[in-house]
Amino acid sequence: MQFFIDTADTQEIKALVDSGFVDGVTTNPSLIAKSGRNILEVITEICEMVSGPVSAEVAATDYETMIKEGKRLAAIADNVAVKVPLTVDGLKVCRALSDEGTMVNVTLCFSAAQALLAAKAGATYISPFVGRLDDVGKDGMDLIDDILEIYSSFPEFQTQVLVASVRNVRHVERAAMMGADVATVPPKLVWEMFKHPFTDKGLDAFLEDWAGTGQSIL
Ligand code: G3P
Repeated sequence: MQFFIDTADTQEIKALVDSGFVDGVTTNPSLIAKSGRNILEVITEICEMVSGPVSAEVAATDYETMIKEGKRLAAIADNVAVKVPLTVDGLKVCRALSDEGTMVNVTLCFSAAQALLAAKAGATYISPFVGRLDDVGKDGMDLIDDILEIYSSFPEFQTQVLVASVRNVRHVERAAMMGADVATVPPKLVWEMFKHPFTDKGLDAFLEDWAGTGQSIL
């Protein structure tokens, strides 16, 4: 499973790139707004830091303008994946850009029916928002299960399932258990994945016992 980092904060990305666990980056208009930076500048910088796919989302909602914005974003770098919302116009843009060889990430997916349409529209990635379904009392990971089941029946679908709106480590674990292609994870959560209190406790005990031997390996 690939790990994408869900942020437009280049400092956070920089810190994680060294960990070797960054396969790509996803952004959206809210994350760009949070960064306080110009989208073209920050996506350019991220594409220079990360060789994997970098999702940059259009801001328009009409076909004509989304196409123009999508082409502008795709022109930034070869590893840009243009993000479009799961709407009628968004999927028309998806079809047009993917036919031209541009990676397209279809976002704001909340049902298996929507994911089916995105695959038929040639999406490179589908981004089901599991956390936002959890927020309303559903189990967002059930949607991932349904989408993976549908996609597995049609080899002609090339769309990768990119689990988004990930809110906890359990979401990442379950995404991997289900065989999702990608999870896009907020930086804070990536660092959390490293941690377990028993690991810290066990390491402290090892170091204390080792100190007692008076030995040195070097
Ligand atoms: O990738 C989508 C993600 O940024 C949305 O997360 O927590 O706002 O639902 P959240």
